Amino acid sequence: MTVFDVPLADLRRRTSIKWTRWEPDVLPMFVAEMDCRMPEPVIERLEQAMRDGDTGYPEQPIYQEAYARFAQWRWGWEPDLALTSTAGDVMQAMRYSLERATAPGVAVVINPPIYPPFRHIVTGTGRRIVEVPLVDDRLDLAGLERAFADGARAHLLCSPHNPNGTVHTREELVALAELAKHHDVTLIVDEIHAPLNGAEFTPFLALPAPGRVLVAASAAKAFNLAGIKAALLFASPDAEPMLRSLPPYVGEAMSHFGALSHATALDASRDFLLELVDEVRANKELFARLVGDKLGLEYRPSEGTYLAWLDCSFLGLAEPGRFFHEEARVRFNFGGDFAPETSQFVRVNLATSPEVVAEAVDRMARALTRVRS
Ligand SMILES: Cc1ncc(COP(=O)(O)O)c(C=O)c1O
Repeated sequence: MTVFDVPLADLRRRTSIKWTRWEPDVLPMFVAEMDCRMPEPVIERLEQAMRDGDTGYPEQPIYQEAYARFAQWRWGWEPDLALTSTAGDVMQAMRYSLERATAPGVAVVINPPIYPPFRHIVTGTGRRIVEVPLVDDRLDLAGLERAFADGARAHLLCSPHNPNGTVHTREELVALAELAKHHDVTLIVDEIHAPLNGAEFTPFLALPAPGRVLVAASAAKAFNLAGIKAALLFASPDAEPMLRSLPPYVGEAMSHFGALSHATALDASRDFLLELVDEVRANKELFARLVGDKLGLEYRPSEGTYLAWLDCSFLGLAEPGRFFHEEARVRFNFGGDFAPETSQFVRVNLATSPEVVAEAVDRMARALTRVRS
């Protein structure tokens, strides 16, 4: 039995955004939810909690401790549990960190193309966006230095990067930390996709001298637990005053079921995760081969996430994402939502079965043949 071996009929019983936002004949491959089975230990833990009426508020640091054990196993990193807080979810952790780190009106760096809520938390908190786009999918360190020298006071880093899955190298992170320290910039890092990665990923706080850094983390993406929200915030020693000044409601927003399920996943579902990562890797190779053969598109699998960032310029479509939805009946995220310049891209969620991957590319190919004939 594989992790993604879930029949479409069963998936369509799910009532989350992935399965209810679009028309029933549309294959949904947009939002970052996975078409996986749920890990048994997590099911059993939540069933037990329900049976026990254990439905109150969280108290014990079970999530922090489980994440620390997981980080040691996956990356050989031991987070400092004295410098940790909980949060309702990762984007709240990012948003409150930004409010602690900067004053309204201050310039904040993001790296487009980027997960759209990064923009929203900058503008929504009254800060100012400074864009330093990725160059060839990598951080533009010279551009970052210019932005920091020009007065930016915080940088929201996505590590690994959503949408294109870039895993920043240790050397890039060390260089970024040095620049940020030199220019007195606070780094606020989103490591939500990190658990999907092994030794190739460097946790920011594993660097010897990270500077003033807050890291938001969660088991939600790697174990498909977005519906049971919970997150963690880790601070470097230099960011301790910011962590301590967070209002209590930030940590209290985490639910007890979130902590129970995330902690159980991190401790007791590691084989499930490794199997899942293998299946995603195979899906990426399959997708690369199929879009090459059937659509003439080049897709180079990246590590980092289960998302594929596909450049469709070669197809000559005005709006590729809309075309694939309306004509092929398969829904991806539109590239233009990640940066105006990437409107010819789509973000494809490959956390599914190989059958769905193949069906999606078939639908795309058939729609293209239809409009061209
Ligand atoms: C980079 C990134 N950060 C944050 C989130 C959302 O996390 P949460 O629901 O914990 O706010 C996602 C979801 O896809 C994501 O890709």
